[in-house]
Amino acid sequence: MSNFSAQRVRAETPEFLRVINDHPLTYLDSAASSLPPRAVIEAMSRYYELRHANVHRGVYQTANEATDAYEGARATIARFINAPGGADEIVFTKNATESFNLLAKSWGLANLGRGDVVLISEMEHHANIVPWFQLREVTGVEVRFLKVTDDYRLDLSTLDEDLAGVKLLSITGMSNVLGTINPVRELADAAHRHGALVAMDAAQSVAHAGLDVTALDVDFAAFSGHKMLGPTGIGVFWTRQEILAAMPPFLGGGGMIADVRTDGYRPATGPSKFEAGTPPIAEAVGLGTAARYLESLGLDHVVAHETALTADALTRLAHHFAGRVHVIGPATTQARGGVISLDVEGVHAHDVAQVLDEFGVCVRPGHHCAKPLMRRFGLAATARASFGPYSLTADTDVLIEALEHAVKLFG
Ligand code: ALA
Repeated sequence: MSNFSAQRVRAETPEFLRVINDHPLTYLDSAASSLPPRAVIEAMSRYYELRHANVHRGVYQTANEATDAYEGARATIARFINAPGGADEIVFTKNATESFNLLAKSWGLANLGRGDVVLISEMEHHANIVPWFQLREVTGVEVRFLKVTDDYRLDLSTLDEDLAGVKLLSITGMSNVLGTINPVRELADAAHRHGALVAMDAAQSVAHAGLDVTALDVDFAAFSGHKMLGPTGIGVFWTRQEILAAMPPFLGGGGMIADVRTDGYRPATGPSKFEAGTPPIAEAVGLGTAARYLESLGLDHVVAHETALTADALTRLAHHFAGRVHVIGPATTQARGGVISLDVEGVHAHDVAQVLDEFGVCVRPGHHCAKPLMRRFGLAATARASFGPYSLTADTDVLIEALEHAVKLFG
């Protein structure tokens, strides 16, 4: 029997107390950033009020407590994603984008050159595109794209040919525009057969489909804290211990060294090698709390809840706006998360979003940092609604009411 209650999650999320343009907040932008529950905010406040000190440096009590809190968060995240080698495989970064830059600029620079191929896809976020183009500028590595089908899925019809010569397949678990959930395990198996390693952009999927790096058999994973009910300013880079040990440092400075002399330095081992400078300590505490909060909800229940909301929204949008509002993404919830990109005929996504704001509805208009995908479908922008564990059917009611208004206004 599930104890999950979206109403309770909403009651525990303070931002829902806001009134926007005389309307209660209808937050449908969790794909951009999710709203943290009070537990996360309070854990960060408590850290700053009682235990703030730098980590890995002091010997006094609060410094030890801060270090324990920071390292405790690392252990929590390792458990949360089922990292086979535990906490020593978890590197805290600024966000998923920085994690991909770490991958490209450390592992990529050391392992990829002319004649090698990085295979990504047309549905990637810029965070999983631009670092590979930057690497190409330096090393001459080839960047190849898996295509997206007209029904918004990865085109895997020529996967074996596409994987020829590939050293790294770097792929999103869930598109931030389409909501499409990709068959990561199947892709990882195919890539491994070709001798390639596999990186996963888990930024969207981590809180909406779960992340088990062992079950998925990927080699690298990247995600952000603020898309899983945690704070901004912290992300995660995961890889297996033996790969991490062989990766050269990325940023240099304090905290990432074993020794420094006037003639050079020796890097630290483990995650510290990649955590130069004072790290985001309060944010790590918040992220660990967010992971435990999601575990307490039961990720399976969260996924089931968001899938039901998505099925209902897709049906009702098709019914209300036949021919006027197009969903840019799979039409059913089969291998699909709660991200619904809308193209309103004849109305710019920014105008749609502005009218929705008058109803207190928060959606993201724009290209969603996925310009190759938008070009693939001949779109400049969509208005994207996305669900979180606190979302309710009532949010879809308000979305439809506000969309009806936008369609009438511009129709
Ligand atoms: N990557 C985030 C989004 O898709 C910001 O909205």
